Amino acid sequence: MLSVAILAAGKGTRMASSLPKVLHKISGKSLLQRVIESCLRLNPDQIYVITGHKSKEVQESISENKRINFIIQEPQSGTGHAIQVLSKEVEKKEGKLLVLNGDVPLIKTETLNKLLNLHELKNADISLITTKKKNPHGYGRVFLKGDFIEKIVEEKDCNNQERQNSLVNAGIYCFNWENLSKIIGSLQSNNSQKEIYLTDTVSLLKNSSSLEVEDNGELQGINNRIQLSKCEEIIQNLIKEKHMLNGVTFINKASCSISEEAEIGKDVTVEANTHIRGSTKIFNDCIMGPNTFIENSHVGSHCEISNSTVYDSQIMDYVKIGPYSHIRPNSKILSYSKIGNFVEIKNSQLEEESKVNHLSYIGDSIIGRSTNIGAGTITANFDGKKKHQTKIGKNSSIGANTVFVAPINLGESVTTGAGSVITKDSKDNSLAISRSKQVNIENWKKKKS
Ligand code: UD1
Ligand code: CA
Repeated sequence: MLSVAILAAGKGTRMASSLPKVLHKISGKSLLQRVIESCLRLNPDQIYVITGHKSKEVQESISENKRINFIIQEPQSGTGHAIQVLSKEVEKKEGKLLVLNGDVPLIKTETLNKLLNLHELKNADISLITTKKKNPHGYGRVFLKGDFIEKIVEEKDCNNQERQNSLVNAGIYCFNWENLSKIIGSLQSNNSQKEIYLTDTVSLLKNSSSLEVEDNGELQGINNRIQLSKCEEIIQNLIKEKHMLNGVTFINKASCSISEEAEIGKDVTVEANTHIRGSTKIFNDCIMGPNTFIENSHVGSHCEISNSTVYDSQIMDYVKIGPYSHIRPNSKILSYSKIGNFVEIKNSQLEEESKVNHLSYIGDSIIGRSTNIGAGTITANFDGKKKHQTKIGKNSSIGANTVFVAPINLGESVTTGAGSVITKDSKDNSLAISRSKQVNIENWKKKKS
């Protein structure tokens, strides 16, 4: 039997934040969510998340799962106290108890598996993960005696000599739960922080073992925003390296961010300051950026999007967007279309080869194939209460500065006169024009006397 406890009750004072530490995010996902996901892949019988500080907020951040239980630790008197509280709440304390700090978010399932295997092999009471850190500041130092762990001393309790030890405790432990429950009550708080330390269990349990793991970033703990940004960098580097090996070029890697779920095809170039977020899928031979943000969208092959923002939309093949376009949710831009400079598109479908090249707002519209929307065209889709649709048929030619007062339905091959305010539907092949005739008043400029 495998139970998991995730320690997430602390405030995270060093984050200097009103948000509980474990709810801070890296690459779009909270620290706690990441730890939970690594644990769920172990297929444990139970996961106990220990919450305390702003427990409601922490609990609400996790979607329901029948294997996840929340335990409230109040007050938060240390990591050992958290497990004391858990032990009181849970009756059946048998099998293995894997304990993880909620602020070590990059831990991999395979590393946890290695720990569990070692624990079984050694028939240990406690097994834990260690690593050698170039800069061990802030971590508990692990002292070994032969195969066993002699003690763990927290940074604040170290003497000068102990502080030199670079072997640190990663905050991830596997216990024989039955044996742990016999000694958990006797932990004391006689240390510099007056907290009950879980790390003190090593001196109370007989059979201990440790798994030393290379310090490749996976065990980075987060106590402050410097470490938060370090973790972000670690995870971003891993994501970008994966894409580079699959055929993606980054022009200025450090200035870009890519979500873990994003899929990017071959021979895509990601220019500087480009951010690909959520479950975006980009097909082959595209140029994305510079200065572009794309979230939860599909981008077909051979597209070019520069200096633009795209949310929750579908862009088909050979589409050019930008510079300075904003494609808002629920838009679909079909192949070979071109969305140009300073154009906003919302909840609209543009059929193949349509063009909206300059300074337009197209909302709640359907624009037919090969239709050209002249510069400055606006769909006035809102009457103060409701949104209305504009439909323009294929092969139409919309004059510059046309305003469509929706609802409007234009046929195919329609032309509108520049500067028209269109309030009525019109049929195929017609010209719709609504503007006053030009008057020329001669000799208007009086001769200077
Ligand atoms: C802890 C370890 C240290 C280790 C480091 C690894 C102890 C005493 N020290 O130190 O040896 O090197 O992690 O990252 O365990 N928490 C609770 N309840 C509490 C206190 C803390 O749930 O009463 C939670 C926190 O929310 C956090 C985790 O436990 O997620 C670790 O607490 P933190 O205060 O960050 O411990 P460290 O000082 O980092
Ligand atoms: Ca910590």
